Amino acid sequence: MKNYIDLIEQTFEFPTREFGIDEQNTLLFNNVPLMDIIRQYGTPLKLTYLPKIEEHIEHARVLFRNAMKKFNYKGAYTYCYCTKSSHFQFVLEEVLSNNCHLETSSAYDIAIIRELYRQQKLSKNTYILCNGYKLPQYQKYITNLINDGFNCVPILDNLKEIDYYIQNTHAETVNLGIRIATDEEPNFAFYTSRLGIRYSDIMDLYKNKIEPNPKLKLKMLHFFINSGIKDNAYYWSELTRFMFKYCEIKKVCPDLDSIDIGGGLPIQTSVFFKYDYQAMVDEIIENIQWICNKNNVPVPNIFTEFGSYTVGESGAVVYKVVDKKQQNDRELWYMIDGSFITQLPDSWGIGQKYIMLPVNNWERPYEKVNLGGLTCDSQDFYNTEAHSEDLYVPSFDIDQEDQYIGFFHTGAYQESLGGYGGIQHCLIPAPKHVIVDRDEDGNIVTRLFAPQQTHESMLQILGYPLKPHEGEPAAGEEPGEEQHELVEQ
Ligand SMILES: Cc1ncc(COP(=O)(O)O)c(C=O)c1O
Repeated sequence: MKNYIDLIEQTFEFPTREFGIDEQNTLLFNNVPLMDIIRQYGTPLKLTYLPKIEEHIEHARVLFRNAMKKFNYKGAYTYCYCTKSSHFQFVLEEVLSNNCHLETSSAYDIAIIRELYRQQKLSKNTYILCNGYKLPQYQKYITNLINDGFNCVPILDNLKEIDYYIQNTHAETVNLGIRIATDEEPNFAFYTSRLGIRYSDIMDLYKNKIEPNPKLKLKMLHFFINSGIKDNAYYWSELTRFMFKYCEIKKVCPDLDSIDIGGGLPIQTSVFFKYDYQAMVDEIIENIQWICNKNNVPVPNIFTEFGSYTVGESGAVVYKVVDKKQQNDRELWYMIDGSFITQLPDSWGIGQKYIMLPVNNWERPYEKVNLGGLTCDSQDFYNTEAHSEDLYVPSFDIDQEDQYIGFFHTGAYQESLGGYGGIQHCLIPAPKHVIVDRDEDGNIVTRLFAPQQTHESMLQILGYPLKPHEGEPAAGEEPGEEQHELVEQ
């Protein structure tokens, strides 16, 4: 029987820029030896490889710079990060240290903005684009930012939202954006998105409420295609319709000078993934310019708010296989020391696939398995990949050796959806989280961002008194902790 390594080399072009194996046949993720991290911190563990964030921000800027140069495009490009993809402080810090701007979607985001300002991580020049349907608290916080001189641009999501800013802002100039409601993909449950303002209302909103008010400036039109930036007829027809609307409004509104084309730049979900980023961005720029030229309108500045693309590929989750269960002649289960439902909720909720690779034992023969999570939910499993209906991992002797497996590119949305540190299915705790970075000389440095969630934190949320009980673990001795040996670095 062939070894796992043969399987991978036959199936993919391996090693890739990101994945490889060392002399011990253990996995390298961005040249980080994962077995070293596992030996030091144990599993289950989430990790964030911080340098990936900067790499992607820079890459997106290069894509737009190249495309704008190629077509002699006269507008500017601004990179915003969409905070909802991952609100963690270490992510925001990394993003802002790369001179990015931010897009928010909730009142509570504004508390993060205020704190980052207090820490001087962002300035009043940083764009804060405020999206989403806004309840009064969010409108109030946005208004406060505007009144305090922040470069905050509310993106109007409905026709009434503007009234609050008209009444409550006292800045000399209030810059506004309008989100245009796109049509959903043809196979979606609805025809037009509930998010944003419909096309036919935009001109009236401008004429009736913005144009007559000297402090209000309509600066930006915004659109976001749910299914992402894809080379298909749907994407191009929505972009075209949007740009024709931009030109129509621009002709009556000289302040308008920018568009925001949202997020949706894809990330790698399989080692097979092929996406020509430069060709896609070239085509976006070419189309925008062509439509503006046709309408005798200057081209707009372009904003993006990439979430997944900024953080997705920085994340990984590593599990240990704690048991092998042969449930019938054909179905072998590898039980992991975590849960898909609670820790990678997209894999359960929308069938999201990630890159899955074993961390060790690549020299062993492989076998087809189902990976099972710890919750009692029958849906807590993972057994196919983006490129294959089967899932293969090394066959190993569970009495003699350990087997670890990693899920990669898991950095976006998983905590936003599954929650972090709260109560989850079968009280599965949030795993420890390790940050991996590189120092000035390129050496790998790691730090523990958070240990595994404690049972005290759960009891507290659930309303139980926090008194130690006989025979139960004391704080810091969480169930499962004892099985991991911490190795001195
Ligand atoms: C308005 C808006 N902008 C940007 C994004 C980020 O999208 P992505 O993570 O696909 O880049 C989203 C995601 O839902 C969004 O709703």
